[in-house]
Amino acid sequence: MKVMQRALCAAVVMFAAIQNGNAAAVNTSAGSAVFESQCVVCHQAGATGMEGLAPPLTKMPAVFASSEAGRAHLLHTLLNGMVGPITVDGGDFNFKMPSFAALSDADIANVANYLIFGVDKAPASTKPVTADAVAKARKATLTPDDVYAERAQVHGGGAQK
Ligand code: HEC
Repeated sequence: MKVMQRALCAAVVMFAAIQNGNAAAVNTSAGSAVFESQCVVCHQAGATGMEGLAPPLTKMPAVFASSEAGRAHLLHTLLNGMVGPITVDGGDFNFKMPSFAALSDADIANVANYLIFGVDKAPASTKPVTADAVAKARKATLTPDDVYAERAQVHGGGAQK
């Protein structure tokens, strides 16, 4: 198991190195395409958000990705949607994030990695999201309200910077 993990790690690092010489960078172009087709209408170009409608995604995805619980929560948000008032970078948001369960595991993983690494520039130590992790996250049957409650737990649980 350890050996396999190491081999996998090496493959990811090599792939990243081929991409642009940065070990932290995963293939963000596939995720960027998903973002442009599914998310940009609300979260806007560069995921900078829309005042009063959709929050910026320029920081939180990487914060969530820094812990196991946070990574699962990020995937739950994409798979189940979320509803409830949140404050991000001083802006208040209380609109509905739709469920994207109809997207494939690979698309969800790619768009998450695009946000974590491409937009938020997460540190090299951050683990990329895998399609397997998405498949696992799908098993949780959560409502948008459940995901909202989970955000408070994860965000209040020391996952943030
Ligand atoms: C119809 C508009 C809309 C679309 C389309 C949309 N979102 Fe959202 N998104 C929202 C809203 C609104 C929220 C905040 C929900 C709340 O206040 O509880 C949100 C929240 C989020 C969050 C959580 C942010 C945080 O700080 O907890 C993530 C991550 C996210 N969206 C990613 C995406 C991705 C990726 C896509 C495309 C696959 C997408 N969104 C498409 C409206 C949208």
